[in-house]
Amino acid sequence: MTHDRIAVVDFGGQYAHLIATKVRRLHVLAEIRQPEDPPQAYAPYKGIILSGSPALSSLGQDSAYDKALYDLDVPILGFCFGHQEIAKHYGGQVEHGGREWGYADLHILRPHPLFTGLAPVEQVWMSHYDSVTGLGPGFLELAHSTLPGGTRVQHRYAAIGSDRLRRYGFQFHPEVDDTLHGSEMIANFVLGICGCRPSWTMERYIDEEVARVRAQVGDGAVFLLVSGGVDSTVAARLLAHALGPDRVHLLHIDNGLMRQDESAKVMEMLGRLGLDRHLSFVDAGADFLAALRGVVEPEAKRRAIGDTFISVFEREARRLGLQHHLLAQGTIYPDTIETGGTQRADVIKTHHNRVPIVREMIRAGRVVEPLAELYKVEVRELGERLGIPREAVWRQPFPGPGLAVRLLCSDGQPDRSGFDAIEPALAELADVEGVAMLPLPIRSVGVKADLRAYEHPVLFSGPAPWEHLLGLAATVYQRVPGINRCLWNLGPSAPRAARPLPATVTRERLDLLRQADALVMDGLRRHGLYGSIWQCPTVLVPLEIDGRGTELVIVRPIHSERAMTATPARLPDALLDELRRSVLDLPGVSGLACDITTKPPGTIEWE
Ligand code: XMP
Repeated sequence: MTHDRIAVVDFGGQYAHLIATKVRRLHVLAEIRQPEDPPQAYAPYKGIILSGSPALSSLGQDSAYDKALYDLDVPILGFCFGHQEIAKHYGGQVEHGGREWGYADLHILRPHPLFTGLAPVEQVWMSHYDSVTGLGPGFLELAHSTLPGGTRVQHRYAAIGSDRLRRYGFQFHPEVDDTLHGSEMIANFVLGICGCRPSWTMERYIDEEVARVRAQVGDGAVFLLVSGGVDSTVAARLLAHALGPDRVHLLHIDNGLMRQDESAKVMEMLGRLGLDRHLSFVDAGADFLAALRGVVEPEAKRRAIGDTFISVFEREARRLGLQHHLLAQGTIYPDTIETGGTQRADVIKTHHNRVPIVREMIRAGRVVEPLAELYKVEVRELGERLGIPREAVWRQPFPGPGLAVRLLCSDGQPDRSGFDAIEPALAELADVEGVAMLPLPIRSVGVKADLRAYEHPVLFSGPAPWEHLLGLAATVYQRVPGINRCLWNLGPSAPRAARPLPATVTRERLDLLRQADALVMDGLRRHGLYGSIWQCPTVLVPLEIDGRGTELVIVRPIHSERAMTATPARLPDALLDELRRSVLDLPGVSGLACDITTKPPGTIEWE
């Protein structure tokens, strides 16, 4: 059977794949293509979507690709950068300016098949610096945008189109979940305008992946690192399905960076799932601690952990006589993309399964990754199809480098880079808003316009309604340069001064983080929130507050679907009170705060 298919042209770090996923949700096959691909590569498609990227500009170099694409006789829809490219190619204008970032209201100006079934005003998500400021012949303005709830037009050409040319553009991103009915807009294009018939299914993905794994592994076998997390568990089940259980050897490494009693629970769970036919265990906590000794910089920590995984893996493979097995990993798509894994993506953070040595092994064909095209939601769907029980499939995600990326380190020198501009800008906002704002002299990893942002957090103190705090945080990111996170102080009084102390990854600090994390996770379970909150890292930051303590504890509850974006989750007051009583009492703790940052501009993890 042949399938109707859509080409998604990859102009941006993370967007193309997200678009492809949304198209696949419609049971239509979507394939990623590069702008450099020759026009004949586009022959099999019934439609083309041009992805966007806020990091690109239609006004320079990024626009240099073969425009023969536009001669194809199929409908083309562009988002953000893709929208600007279409406008420009057909005689419109693009200018630098008119930046919008975050939610906007889309006012639909005329009935159009792209907006069938939608309301006259729709919530959309914007992220752009350049703007379309004029249209070429035959193009119509289909919608404009205002700020949420506003009436003044922010962006005149938020959606444009020419039905004669079958060329359309959206300035906003319908592929992100924050555009409330973005999936419907994509469906209107794919099923309506392009006329694709749905035929792609998860079963088909399983069949294709099984065939691919069999072809790659031949009559060999694989050795898979399993953490107990969703990804590696589903990968193990899929590989066993493809190769038979005797050709899949599993290894669980206790890296000493796991949660309290986690490794024992993981071994037990893998047994319950019947994945223990060839399951080995190694306690390598000492290797990881040795590799992390004295390391402060976040990317250096990630590399040390990734390299240690491989050296322990190789040692165990030799010990078990499995050195000819291929390395299998439960890598999912965001791991690749955040490590700068496509041509135009920035390195936001190096995921542990993408350190240089693993990339070398991939080039040599020594790595099998059956989930590398999927997001977490799809991995979960696949896991359920493969018969993995719900409680294993719906565990909250936990990163491969474990607690190490939640244990910030410092050389003890206050990092006040950019404070000259940050302090006065915050003082101005704090005066107006009546909330105290203390910038912290350390930095954490975040992401702004698809680029890594290693910047300072701000600690808010004072009684304010949750919605107000979130609004204030959004204002801070917009107005104050160099800030990528906002925290809400849960301690009894507003801190006046924070000082970093020298700290690296040590067993003692890990033990303290494990205790704080166990209190938080236990609280989530007792309050029935484990399933509704997507993930909840607890983080230690080596800060003395007002001359007391050595570690500021941060709780980061979030809602997300694909981890590409996230919003802070509000914890109930009763749980916050319990955490105040229990966490603030742990030895050495200087304070407690809740991270109220969206992603972007913060990432979910702090490093
Ligand atoms: P960030 O912090 O980038 O995280 O917003 C997105 C999701 O990925 C998880 N994460 C990792 N998972 N290896 C993993 O397997 C890693 O190196 C890694 N780093 C982050 C993170 O917990 C979140 O769910």
